[in-house]
Amino acid sequence: MTTDIKMATEGRIARLREKFDDSELDAIIISNTENRRYFSGFKGSAGNLIISRDKAVLATDFRYTEQAGLQAPAFDVLQIRPALDWLHETLSDMGAKRIGFEADEMTVSGHERIRKALNEAAGDETTYTLIPTNGIGVGLRAVKDAQELALLTRAIEIGDKAFDDVSAQIKAGMTENEVAWEIEKSIREQGAESLSFETIVGSGPNGARPHHLAADRFIQEGEPIVIDMGCQYQGYCSDLTRTIVIGEPDAKFKEIYDITLTAQLTAIETVVAGMTGEDADMLARNVITEAGYGDNFGHSLGHGVGLEVHEGPGVGARAKGKLEDGMVFTIEPGIYLTGWGGVRIEDVVVLENGRARVISKARKVSP
Ligand code: GLY
Ligand code: MN
Ligand code: MN
Repeated sequence: MTTDIKMATEGRIARLREKFDDSELDAIIISNTENRRYFSGFKGSAGNLIISRDKAVLATDFRYTEQAGLQAPAFDVLQIRPALDWLHETLSDMGAKRIGFEADEMTVSGHERIRKALNEAAGDETTYTLIPTNGIGVGLRAVKDAQELALLTRAIEIGDKAFDDVSAQIKAGMTENEVAWEIEKSIREQGAESLSFETIVGSGPNGARPHHLAADRFIQEGEPIVIDMGCQYQGYCSDLTRTIVIGEPDAKFKEIYDITLTAQLTAIETVVAGMTGEDADMLARNVITEAGYGDNFGHSLGHGVGLEVHEGPGVGARAKGKLEDGMVFTIEPGIYLTGWGGVRIEDVVVLENGRARVISKARKVSP
């Protein structure tokens, strides 16, 4: 496993270095938690990666030094103290002067602290140039490698089984919270470390709010119940939505469910590599709009999934980036009617040979 991590992270670092030329970087400081884990394998909650063209250092504190050595075989581990004198030492050892940082991640005060510390240590203000970078890690993470796909597939399997087992036992009179707790127990019993987000159980009118969390409402027969759930397994997230009914669905449910399912299957069957996220979004949105419910589908068709439950690629109305083979994302159209409830159906797909392969296997209602 250590060999796998070493090979995987070395490949990821090589792809990161290919991006250095865009901004003429000598090195980059990676401080985002998920990027740090992606490039190094290190799971701790504090530390910075300093990656130059030929060196890779993981700087962390006493609490994590041993762990970093075990989890990040492609890195030299440096135990640091809060003072930043180590940064100048590390960068000068690398011969690095033009230093990239993650502009979406670093605070203004963090940037100022680094700038001052480097200038003081170097003895002048011209030695180092701090260069903002945007979305390099997130961009590389959008295309999954084989190891990531295996972990995502396992996370999704765990989520699917939790849904299939728990949904078969839901009865009128249970509360949304009881359902959410059964799902959480199943996820943990199957070896996932946590939920990937708070479980959504939206019964009856609660389902009209796309991100209603589970509450103490009693579930009733015949009403739509939106269950949106996910787990995190070895860092990787699952994300699944099903909408079910206890007892007999009425004509209204059948109508709304059928439109949503048609929209979802249309997007799954017709999305192809090379489309933008915006093009993909329209595949489902056109079906819902033509059925007269365009105003009731007020969120994006989907989003990338990986170390974060929401990450690249964008799959929505303003997503201009192109979808590529190896990208993993959700397809989750929904229709929401205030006072009645909602229907959302969500699967995770991976683009392979230009087309979507559905990874999620959880049972879908066919009304
Ligand atoms: N649970 C949030 C989502 O499906 O994106
Ligand atoms: Mn979801
Ligand atoms: Mn989702």
